[in-house]
Amino acid sequence: MKKHLLIIGSQWGDEGKGKIVDYLAKGFDAVVKFTGGNNAGHTVVIKSKTYKMHIIPSGVFQGKKALVAPGIVFDPEVILAEMEILKENNIPLDLMIDWRVNLVMPYHKQLDAATEIYKGKKSTGSLKLGIGYCYEDKNNRNGIRCEDIINPKVLRDKLEKIVPLKKLMIEKVYGQKANLSIDEIYKLYLYYGKLLNKYFGDVSEFIATNINKKRFMFEGANGTMLDGVFGTVPFTVANQTIAGSVFANCGIGISPMDCLGVVKAYTTRVGNGPFPTEQSNEIGEHLQTVGHEVGTTSGRKRRCGWVDLPLLRYSNRLNGFTVLALTKLDVLTGLRKIKVATHYILKGKKIEFFPSKLIDLPNIRPVYKTFKGWKDNIEKAKSFDQLPKEAQIYVKFIEKEIGVKIKYISIGAERRSIIVK
Ligand code: GDP
Ligand code: IMO
Ligand code: MG
Repeated sequence: MKKHLLIIGSQWGDEGKGKIVDYLAKGFDAVVKFTGGNNAGHTVVIKSKTYKMHIIPSGVFQGKKALVAPGIVFDPEVILAEMEILKENNIPLDLMIDWRVNLVMPYHKQLDAATEIYKGKKSTGSLKLGIGYCYEDKNNRNGIRCEDIINPKVLRDKLEKIVPLKKLMIEKVYGQKANLSIDEIYKLYLYYGKLLNKYFGDVSEFIATNINKKRFMFEGANGTMLDGVFGTVPFTVANQTIAGSVFANCGIGISPMDCLGVVKAYTTRVGNGPFPTEQSNEIGEHLQTVGHEVGTTSGRKRRCGWVDLPLLRYSNRLNGFTVLALTKLDVLTGLRKIKVATHYILKGKKIEFFPSKLIDLPNIRPVYKTFKGWKDNIEKAKSFDQLPKEAQIYVKFIEKEIGVKIKYISIGAERRSIIVK
């Protein structure tokens, strides 16, 4: 095993990254969050206590140094609320946030909401947390960075320039009411700056100078199929989420690391957009209710369906997984039959990978292989051999078809509910 480890969600998010990060963090010195915003929601369950983190890396529950890399964007209110939760539960926090991190501003949230109304039936299903607009400003050089909220003059100048434009956009372009006061935003963000200042630093430099001395874990967010370039655009996030983005988002040179793909034992997605193996029937209901498939951040019911091998092969190609963790296998218990999409048919032709052209998506038809299910509760299994034969066959088939070893099998939300194969 190489020194550093990258954890990537292989599907549309919510694969159980938080759980796997928490489980594996023990062996590392620091855990880095490097992409996404507070639209991400990562859950860690320790002795029946559930923690939902959006920005602070999930390694914090193992007492690891928590690093927020330059590629992240966040709403200061959200990270402050997370800090409160940690404090209330006596969980120590050793946190550094990069100066360059861009902040979600009130106009980002208002623009998100206005755009979704404008898009109507074709809306993304956005969380309306302003993450996409924050990335837009970041990429188009209009962002407010952490360093700006501890420099009153810089903040004031930037707000004077940006806010009137945003107001015009919300009111004149989208026809919605804007609720934006430069004075109020200025005061609020300087206040955030005071509270957060002690955590600001150069995370990029810290990682780069320690890359040969410390073991880093990099915690991905949002999932591969939500990647803003390779995912199901426009039903994606605005940032890149795939493995290669870790270097650009941290501002470090290419370093060898293992890449662990987190694969849910079925598929879910929250929000709108294509989902070839979706089951809008009693199977989908089983997965949704037994799996408690409710958005960690939004509280919306997640859409559910079978494992999609063309999607997972594509995901593996995009990320280069060196090892896999299969999560939520316990949720399949009780299903008489379990299906897996082995390939798609597109215009009469068999295809084995998720199509790269968006225009092909409505025309693909998944072809399934059916497996026998199992009845016995698997939550207490301690080894792969203790799983029912049917479950073993299912796991081995997925492993063979993706072509990457499934080393971890998660069989419950709790930290300790995991089998090492
Ligand atoms: P993330 O965004 O990838 O970190 O995943 P989320 O935390 O948003 O969603 C995963 C959900 O599944 C959370 O509620 C976890 O507590 C839960 N979970 C994770 N692994 C397992 C598992 O193996 N079995 C069950 N039943 N729940 C799990
Ligand atoms: P984690 O890290 C699942 C979805 C949103 C929405 C779309 C666009 O917990 O796996 P935006 O923030 O621009 O409104 O998001 O992407 N989405 C996620 N779905 N898990 C996530 O993160 C997600 N982050 C964003 O629901 O449909
Ligand atoms: Mg999540």
